[in-house]
Amino acid sequence: MSKRTVVITGANGEIGHLLLETLSKEQAIIIAVDLSPLSDEHTALCEEVIIGDICDDEVIRDIEKHDVNDIFHLAAILSTSGEKNPERAHHVNVDGTMNVLQLAYRIGKRTNSAVKVLFPSTIAAFGISDLETKRMSGPAREDDFASPITMYGINKLYNEHLGRYYSDCYRRLSPEKESGFVDFRALRFPGLISAFTVPTGGTSDYAPEMIHNAAQGKHYDCFVRPDAQIPFMAMPDAVKSLLHLASAPLENLSTRVYNVTSFSPTAEEIKDMVQAEFPNATIDFKPQEKRQEIIDSWPGVVDDSKARNDWNWSPDYDAEKTFKEYLIPNIKMRYGG
Ligand code: SER
Repeated sequence: MSKRTVVITGANGEIGHLLLETLSKEQAIIIAVDLSPLSDEHTALCEEVIIGDICDDEVIRDIEKHDVNDIFHLAAILSTSGEKNPERAHHVNVDGTMNVLQLAYRIGKRTNSAVKVLFPSTIAAFGISDLETKRMSGPAREDDFASPITMYGINKLYNEHLGRYYSDCYRRLSPEKESGFVDFRALRFPGLISAFTVPTGGTSDYAPEMIHNAAQGKHYDCFVRPDAQIPFMAMPDAVKSLLHLASAPLENLSTRVYNVTSFSPTAEEIKDMVQAEFPNATIDFKPQEKRQEIIDSWPGVVDDSKARNDWNWSPDYDAEKTFKEYLIPNIKMRYGG
């Protein structure tokens, strides 16, 4: 079988590193794109590294030289950063995704085969009106609570529709068939926790920040209340879900947007798990009202039964395994201890 050519945008980000390492073991030809240069180790895994902005036409032209099979479009501005500059977030998140979808369409048409676009969507695409409703409602399904309150969440929700449009409806009045050259597939990720990278600019960042600070012996002021609850997932499961969804036969997919989840601890439960491993860690709760409001608008628990039914999704890491087998050994190795 010939090797697949895979593009990863945002290759230097939180998800990008592990995805790059995993895909390189699968012998894919990798084109990495990021604003900042990759480490020498990561560069060595790539056929080509394009340093630049996904909104830049020259970057798109460089990618388009390749007969690409799959695009993992990870580049984005997250929920907290997005609120600091919503217009820039819209530009990167929406115009960048539009560029990627158009690129996929042109390559698909040229090569006469659908280019898969794998897209990390998010729990931020949900928007629950108030805390009482959040507490009373069961696990959120994909179509529930479709009124996100951050620019990032709005961008991601719109991008899910754009991806569906390019895949199934593109130029629907054209005499020639124009759909079918893009095969867009999205995952609504919960908060992600990596042992190796600390995210920047997200609102779910309190969990990884708590863990990484404790491991370095640093005090941490948690910016949400102890009872704050959203779903989380260990990074290896996030990468696994992206690759499983990518390889699922299209006819098995009943939707182009899937919830995935693993465990839903409160911030206090995360603190307890961290202190069980790092007894000297000092963690205080200093909720910031405005960031807390964002967390309160996201579901505490999501329903991922569509992913389980359609492509056999199941996470490898529950909360205990995430801490004991993934985070703690790797983080101790990273920071020493
Ligand atoms: N981790 C993201 C954020 O907090 C949610 O997808 O913005």
